[in-house]
This record gives sequence, structure tokens and C-alpha cells, in this order.
Amino acid sequence: MLKLGIIGTGWISASFVEAAQMTKKYHLEAVYSRHLESALSFSEDFSHVSLYENLDEFLMHDMDMIYIASPNAVHFEQAKKAIEAGHHIIVEKPAFSNPSELNEIISLANEKKVLFFEAARNIHEHAFEVIHEFLADKKVIGADFTYSKYSSKMPALLRGEVPNKFNAKYSGGLLADLGVYLLYAAVYWFGNPKSATYDAVILESGVDLSGIGSLDYGTFKVALKCAGNFNSYLPCEIYTTTGTLVLDSVNAIKSAKFIKNDGGVETIKIIPAKHPLIDEANHFAEIYETRETPSSCYLYKDLQDTAKDVAQISYQMRRAAGIVFDADQN
Ligand SMILES: NC(=O)c1ccc[n+]([C@@H]2O[C@H](COP(=O)([O-])OP(=O)(O)OC[C@H]3O[C@@H](n4cnc5c(N)ncnc54)[C@H](OP(=O)(O)O)[C@@H]3O)[C@@H](O)[C@H]2O)c1
Repeated sequence: MLKLGIIGTGWISASFVEAAQMTKKYHLEAVYSRHLESALSFSEDFSHVSLYENLDEFLMHDMDMIYIASPNAVHFEQAKKAIEAGHHIIVEKPAFSNPSELNEIISLANEKKVLFFEAARNIHEHAFEVIHEFLADKKVIGADFTYSKYSSKMPALLRGEVPNKFNAKYSGGLLADLGVYLLYAAVYWFGNPKSATYDAVILESGVDLSGIGSLDYGTFKVALKCAGNFNSYLPCEIYTTTGTLVLDSVNAIKSAKFIKNDGGVETIKIIPAKHPLIDEANHFAEIYETRETPSSCYLYKDLQDTAKDVAQISYQMRRAAGIVFDADQN
């Protein structure tokens, strides 16, 4: 059993712990929160969990893997400290504010011989691989991906507050949130685009509330849309020379059908995961357990390369829209 440490006690940490428990590969070992009472209520359903409100003391605890789910801009310092203390880490997406931070962490992790994973859950879904294989013998000539969801932080934003999620100080905005899933889908299925642009609705806080992006692959383009102030029920589509692949989403995919140019429909069998984070939790544990084997090394390197590509494209798009994070000044 992997001894799991948690940084940040928001709902996504609770969800990750739930998924980790379902894999039967992790045991909740220690929790760090800025407030001991939050760590206590977070872990009340578990026994023998060590609780900390001092990060340095938490990092001295014996753990195999630390999951970091604090606001985006806080990840870098926490990840650095965790790696320096010798821990393997899983960092919620977007792992870091910009490519420089990501590259620094990857170098440090390699130097200290620990694993770093970005928790971009969709590329770990079994369905992602099914779609990848389905596209293998097709020629892609375009795609249209959308992910817009009314945020639970919208009421606070409308009251005039600036939640971390919508704050440049915390490297927020929609491209750095739901947009990450769209970029992972594009990079995983189509590779690295030649260039990328983004046109966004910018909040007073300096980050994007919604936006429309375009990835240029030379022979085709991919349209991306994300928003935090409304729900979209549009499907995602991948256009090929022989037909259109229609997905209900590029995250937590539940249905996929290929509508051929002659009108015939082929349904692709998708088995939805039992929990939205279970595939990534399983994947991280498997790579950790077999980290010395060539196949795991290859897979791990592939994940890092994809994370680097996504971070670079996201940065390019963000700068095209004039979005500057406080972390970019460092
Ligand atoms: N994979 C997914 O589906 C998914 C979904 C949602 C969010 N996320 C990612 O998870 C991360 C957290 O998102 P969130 O919306 O939960 O963020 P959040 O509510 O702003 O913060 C999460 C936790 O971080 C700690 N925290 C808050 N402000 C902090 C600060 N200024 N300094 C240090 N720690 C602070 C708090 O825990 P304590 O009070 O215990 O310290 C808080 O509960 C983000 O990177 C986000 O992109 C991923």
C-alpha cells in the first residue's frame, strides 16, 4: 500500500482520496492543512492519519506519494519543498503557472530521483486510449472541443469577491482550468500544434472567464471553447476524411459514435470509470510500483513530454490573450 500524503483539503482532495481508496493501492497516511481543524474534519472517516498545520513538519513524515491540490500558484513552492524532502508527487492540473516552473520541477524531480505527475485526469481514462486507437487509421481534418461549466465560485465572483480560481495572483482563469483538459485531448490525439491563439473575455482580476482558442496543425485546425460562467451541452467532434467522431465530452467520456460520411453510424464501446479520478490514481500507483522497468520509464517520460507540450501551448495562448500571472514576473 502506498502511504499517501495530502496537501490542501478542498473537495478535489477528498475526491482523490476516495478514488485512491477504491484502487486499494493507497492508504491515507498524513494530511497537511493551513488549519488543523480542516485536516481533522478532512480525515474524520479514516483512522491512524497524521495531521499537520506546519508544512515542514508534514514533509518530514514517512510518505510514498504526496497529492498537492492547493491553488495553482501555490503548487510550485510546495512541490519544490516536497521533492527536496525526497517525496514523489502528484500535482493537480495545471501543475504549474508556466513552462519555466514546470521545467524546473521536472529537472529537480529527475535529479532527486522522484516521480512527478500532473493530475490531468482525462488522459488516464481508458476511453482516451480507445479513441486514440480508433483514430489510428483515420486522417483527422479538424476538431471542435468545448468544456464550459457554471463554476461553484460564480456566486462569489458576482458578489464582487475574487476567488482563487479567478485570480491572476493564483494563476487562475478558465484556460488554466477546464482548458487544460481540452489541450490534453488535442495533444494526446493529434500531437503538438504548430501554433495556438486564444481570444478571451478577461475579468478585472486579469484572467479569463471564458475564451475561444484555435490550434493550428498546418493541414487542419482545432477549435477550443471553455467558460466558467455558463454550462454548455455541446458535444465534442473530431472530423476525419471518412466521417465525424462525436464524443459527449473530452473529459469523463461516456459516449462515442462515428457518423460516416454516407450516414452510417458506428457506436464505439466506452466503459465509464467507476470514479472520475480512479484511472489516474491507478495509473500513478502502477508507475510508482514498477518505476524501474523500461515500460514504466517510457510511459513516465511520455507523460512528462505531454505535460510540457500542454504547458507550452497554454502559455502561448494565455499570452496571446494578454493574460499575465503574478507568477510570470518571477
Ligand atoms: N482534477 C479535477 O477535476 C479538479 C477539480 C477541481 C480543482 N482542481 C485543481 O485542484 C486545485 C485546487 O483547486 P480548488 O478549486 O480546490 O482550490 P481552492 O479551493 O482555492 O484551494 C484548495 C485548498 O488549498 C488550500 N488553500 C487555499 N488557499 C490557499 C493559499 N492561499 N495558500 C495555500 N493553500 C491554500 C486550502 O486547503 P487548506 O485550508 O486545508 O490549507 C483549500 O481547501 C487547483 O489546481 C485546481 O485546478 C482539479
